[in-house]
Amino acid sequence: MPVSRETFLSNVWRDGIFKDKVLFCTGGAGTICSMQVRAFVALGGNACITGRNPEKTEKGAADIASVRPGAKVIGIVADVRDMKAMDAAAERCAAELGSIDFAIAGAAGNFLAPMSQLSSNAFKTVMEIDTLGSFHTAKAVLPYLVQSVQKHKNSGKAQPTGTGGRIIFISASFHFRGQPLQAHVMAAKAAVDQISSSVAMEYGPHGITSNVITPGPIAGTEGMERLSKSDERSVKESKAKIPVGRWGEVKEIADATVFLFSEAGSYVNGHVLVVDGGQWRTTGADMGSTWRYPDFFLSGAAVEGVKGGKKSKL
Ligand code: COA
Repeated sequence: MPVSRETFLSNVWRDGIFKDKVLFCTGGAGTICSMQVRAFVALGGNACITGRNPEKTEKGAADIASVRPGAKVIGIVADVRDMKAMDAAAERCAAELGSIDFAIAGAAGNFLAPMSQLSSNAFKTVMEIDTLGSFHTAKAVLPYLVQSVQKHKNSGKAQPTGTGGRIIFISASFHFRGQPLQAHVMAAKAAVDQISSSVAMEYGPHGITSNVITPGPIAGTEGMERLSKSDERSVKESKAKIPVGRWGEVKEIADATVFLFSEAGSYVNGHVLVVDGGQWRTTGADMGSTWRYPDFFLSGAAVEGVKGGKKSKL
């Protein structure tokens, strides 16, 4: 579906800053990641997106490519839990588009569940998609990012051939203060943050930068459908707890991405960039009237009324 430029990019970036550069993004057909990739492609780059669902991935790639005449966007079906599949995806991307200059480890899985209703397999599934998947993504793309940064040195001075050799991990803020119903994701994303730190420390000497973007509640995303109720009262309560008083826009995550990938972000390494309107500081165990704390946990009830609710096996 055509998307107008102002919905995914602020009018402060120069066209062509990513000309002929290549972005590799896992989970790239998702609501947030597709806008990050779209912004990159609009500013001159080409991209490969990966996903588990063939139809969603291929459609997503074609949709993103429509943002700029001549843009090349390839959809690759690959599960981030499979190291060999990630290696093959990165190899194909570099072979078909010429390089991998930037990467986003964006594939994630989430749902709301109290620990009492979280099976070992449920916990493991999210750890494998988010944590192992981020590690696999980094392992698969880092050799290409090293090649890229050799061509586009990170000197801190003006970079005539543009930037390269950068990776962003998509995380969450649940583990900053603690968030009931998110035991699996708190564990997984805390680990993701530390994978980024390791890349920053161990690959920084090659000139690579590694950072985390932590989106807060972003309007119109699959994450919000899975994690929040959409009735008027719940939405009002949710927004009231955010210091800036509103949910974020996908474009605000895309803008943060462009900043970190552009020359403007050259000296930012090992950072967690929280783009949430200040939300994490004012939330935590207080889950509002939807799942009142601690009553909800004492009741033993299941999470209902969100898209990511547990499916009955009956
Ligand atoms: N509450 C509790 N457990 C749940 C659950 C929920 N809402 N949803 C799934 N699970 C459990 C399943 O019951 C299963 O455990 P079991 O075998 O002990 O029954 C386990 O998690 C794996 O579920 P399954 O559906 O087989 O895994 P999957 O690989 O097909 O899907 C998920 C992975 C569960 C993360 C799924 O929600 C998903 O595909 N998410 C992708 C989109 C997404 O979450 N995006 C994030 C936006 S923030």
